[in-house]
Amino acid sequence: MRKPLIGILAYREGAVFFEPDYFRRLIAQGREMGADVFLFSPQDVDTEARQIKGYVPAVEKGWKERLYAWPDVVIDQYRYYPLEKHKGYLPFRQQSLFLYANSRFANKWRVHHVLAADEIMNRWLPESRPFSKQNVAEMLGRYPLLYIKPTNGSGGRSILCVEKRGKGYVLRGRTKIQGTKVQKITSQQELLQRLHQWVHRQKHGNELFFIQQGLRLDLLPNRTIDTRLLIQKNGEGEWKVTGMGVRVGGIKSSTSNLHGGGRAVPAGRFFASRFGQEKARKIIRECGELAHRTVQVIEQHYGSMLEFGLDIGVDVTGRVWLIETNPKPGREILRKTGQLERYQLAIRRPLEYALYLIKQQKRAKEHIS
Ligand SMILES: Nc1ncnc2c1ncn2[C@@H]1O[C@H](COP(=O)(O)OP(=O)(O)O)[C@@H](O)[C@H]1O
Ligand SMILES: [Mg+2]
Repeated sequence: MRKPLIGILAYREGAVFFEPDYFRRLIAQGREMGADVFLFSPQDVDTEARQIKGYVPAVEKGWKERLYAWPDVVIDQYRYYPLEKHKGYLPFRQQSLFLYANSRFANKWRVHHVLAADEIMNRWLPESRPFSKQNVAEMLGRYPLLYIKPTNGSGGRSILCVEKRGKGYVLRGRTKIQGTKVQKITSQQELLQRLHQWVHRQKHGNELFFIQQGLRLDLLPNRTIDTRLLIQKNGEGEWKVTGMGVRVGGIKSSTSNLHGGGRAVPAGRFFASRFGQEKARKIIRECGELAHRTVQVIEQHYGSMLEFGLDIGVDVTGRVWLIETNPKPGREILRKTGQLERYQLAIRRPLEYALYLIKQQKRAKEHIS
């Protein structure tokens, strides 16, 4: 009997894969578990010959290629952005050529609507509306802080936050090229004009932006602080919280993303020092409830999934909010907070789940024949 064969779909530029460190560990882990694991990109698939040019780590560094048979299951780890170099991805993914461990997902704005329609989820979601001058004016009447974000952004790219200060406004933004900028504006009319221009300058193609109720995440002065929680399926196909960590954004930064200068600290300790032991425990429990409900609602709508990295905001009053659901999350937060066993588990779980799927499929086939 041949080994289970697991393909990892990822973006490749020449012979370079991004996140090489993670992929090396994933492949090594797969081998330890008795599976053959390889990386590939859409252009490596020969549908007629039912063969794939796959990549595994070379001995020292880099990747070596060879031909592989059709994989039993594919984990889609392709980080898609609406750029020219990724234009082959969506049509490829839509073909459903494989048994995928993770179904396709949608942009933030659509996902927000799906989640907001659920009564339980709704209380954890900041109010969100499509970007327009009128919606900004209306929401500023109700919230002293607003966030404006692209519907398919990532890594804290192109996020602007607007804060009411006396009669004026302060704008803090991360631009496309990741610089941080602060501006003071005195009239609402000027503000609306500026925001309109900013959105038009930031957007890729016909990308849309939305406005979100701003959360007070400055649990430390002049810092944006939020929590990254990793929830994954295990080898029995059940959802489990693998771990979490708190991200402390750079000084005066409007975002906490690690790529934008944030650093990571352990969640339990951080919340206990800010809110006391008992409330900290309650907050962490609520994060778990939120996470389980999120994946449940998402799966009802989008089909079976593999893992999510949730951006959770705990505001200055200790209230818990869901900011973003990332379907292809990094797991660096676990390593950066020194949780090495959980980090290892975070690499193992997707493979355990993939093997579970293969077993299930085999059983289903035996049942039919
Ligand atoms: N509504 C909000 N209120 C307060 N902070 C926010 C809000 N939305 C986003 N942020 C901050 O900006 C970061 C990036 O926003 P997010 O929606 O996760 O976009 P990205 O996909 O770029 O990570 C969040 O992790 C959080 O620190
Ligand atoms: Mg995020």
